[in-house]
Amino acid sequence: MKQYQIAILAGDGIGPEVTREAMKVLDTAASIYGFSTKKTEYPFSTQYWLDHGQKDEMIFPQASFEEVKQHHAVYLGAIGDPRAPVGKIEYGIIAKLRFELDLYINLRPVRLYDERLCPLKDKGPKDIDMVFVRENTEGAYTGTFGFAHKGLPIEVASQVMTYTRHGVERAIRYSFDLARARNKQKKVTLIDKANALRSHDLWQRTFHEVAREYPDIKTDHAYIDAACMWLIKNPEWFDVAVTTNLFGDIITDLGAMLQGGMGIAASGNLHPGKVSLFEPIHGSAPKYAGQNKACPVAAILAASMMCDYLGEKKAGEAIENAIIDLIRTKRIRSVNTGEHATTEVGDMVVAALTGKLAKV
Ligand code: IPM
Ligand code: MG
Repeated sequence: MKQYQIAILAGDGIGPEVTREAMKVLDTAASIYGFSTKKTEYPFSTQYWLDHGQKDEMIFPQASFEEVKQHHAVYLGAIGDPRAPVGKIEYGIIAKLRFELDLYINLRPVRLYDERLCPLKDKGPKDIDMVFVRENTEGAYTGTFGFAHKGLPIEVASQVMTYTRHGVERAIRYSFDLARARNKQKKVTLIDKANALRSHDLWQRTFHEVAREYPDIKTDHAYIDAACMWLIKNPEWFDVAVTTNLFGDIITDLGAMLQGGMGIAASGNLHPGKVSLFEPIHGSAPKYAGQNKACPVAAILAASMMCDYLGEKKAGEAIENAIIDLIRTKRIRSVNTGEHATTEVGDMVVAALTGKLAKV
């Protein structure tokens, strides 16, 4: 029997409780589809840092990081807590994993399972089925920033956006391969801001060069501001969309709302062929922590993406299909906070997978 080693960082806030449900579902799928997992939990989080003298080296101790790298995949709940300086723990854990594991693709599917989850008028599941490919290791996120004259009225702050031909090209190439594999509209939309950010010319040139190698795939382009508008007006135009790290961060929250909200949006941070990381895209929602109120659907779908990535495609699909069925039959009434107990949703998905759920 195949065994996959999974490193789990449940993290802050609602992270641990949604992770628990996702792992419950993963174990069920594993037993049905004939594989097993060996999970190692790592306690790194804001609480851990507070409990260990608030030392920088305790955010994600290097020895543990080296261990995490040896797993087949990493599963992350959520990171962020107002008791730490803003961004400090996120940077020390999420950014460290993304950069040091070179997780260059942030894959964020946006798929509407049922019309009632969508805030747009007259748009249904056939209109909202796309994947965002967010470049995940460059752009504004490389940590190249500085301040001059700090505290003075003439203070200057800067954050440098950097792109490399290598980084841009691998994200674009991945997107074309994905459009081909999805075999839907066979279309890749480049989203940039080359009209104002001159460095984005690199994205445009690379996109056109790579596109020539994929004559079967259509291309489209939108500046990020217009892309936000089109995403609301004509979401059916999108199939695969590739964009920079920062724009991808922003537009995927908008995308999440089209599929029902942060309670349902999942992601994979990938380095194809190597250890990759899966997480719900929502944050830690500290005010709901420990109340068994958070919606675990996004976390469960992240586990489904992880199965898919590990090569357990049937298990991944079965988890997604169980969620689709529960949503369409309204047993999962909504994916908003407080609509169901966190554990109730996990139990329903387990029952659906094992065929122990009464038919409606
Ligand atoms: C995301 C999050 C992170 C990001 C934060 C927590 C640093 O918003 O994964 O989308 O900006 O990448
Ligand atoms: Mg984000």
